[in-house]
Amino acid sequence: MLDFDETTKEVLLELEKTQEEFWNVDRQTANFLNMIVKSLNCKNVLEIGTSNGYSAIWISKALKETKGHLTTIEFWDKRLNLAIENFKKCKVDDIITTKLGSASDVLIDLEGETYDLVFIDANKLEYHKYFERVHPLLKKGGIILADNVVSHAKKVQPFLDTIINHPDYQSELLNFQDGLLFSRKNIN
Ligand SMILES: C[S@@+](CC[C@H](N)C(=O)[O-])C[C@H]1O[C@@H](n2cnc3c(N)ncnc32)[C@H](O)[C@@H]1O
Repeated sequence: MLDFDETTKEVLLELEKTQEEFWNVDRQTANFLNMIVKSLNCKNVLEIGTSNGYSAIWISKALKETKGHLTTIEFWDKRLNLAIENFKKCKVDDIITTKLGSASDVLIDLEGETYDLVFIDANKLEYHKYFERVHPLLKKGGIILADNVVSHAKKVQPFLDTIINHPDYQSELLNFQDGLLFSRKNIN
């Protein structure tokens, strides 16, 4: 059973009514994101592609439990403003840093930061570019989760070719709605 407060449950149900318009992950993927953050006791999570904040709410509710922090990137100001409103309603705004801008540029600004988990869910044609920039930021043993690797298989192919054959990563495809790639950065 989910232990979210009533307001958060209501906000999430409301956001699910416009899921297609805002390209949000499905509830199954969102629940998995929440569980993995708690299971791995993640402290510092990065999301690429905020939209109106649906997945970020699920992630940050888990980070409340682990006493962690989320940084989330979105280049569409209207969407990011909606997300910020939703974060306030769900009382997770205090543990979220929002970054307005093109993900590949923002990732350069994040140089020096380190993350235990990165959720990639923005421009499918840029996944390989995000990966190049996320790789140095990800801790050893850290996780990259990339959405839409089945629904947008052709667009993400360069990313898939890179990460699946990368000596520093072990990967498996999870059979959620749009296909979620789970990749772990090796310790050695
Ligand atoms: C699939 S939606 C994200 C959905 C969100 N993760 C969720 O499940 O609630 C992708 C978002 O990435 C944003 N986006 C696309 N390309 C981007 C880029 N180059 N930099 C930053 N954001 C981008 C889009 O505006 C869109 O809101």
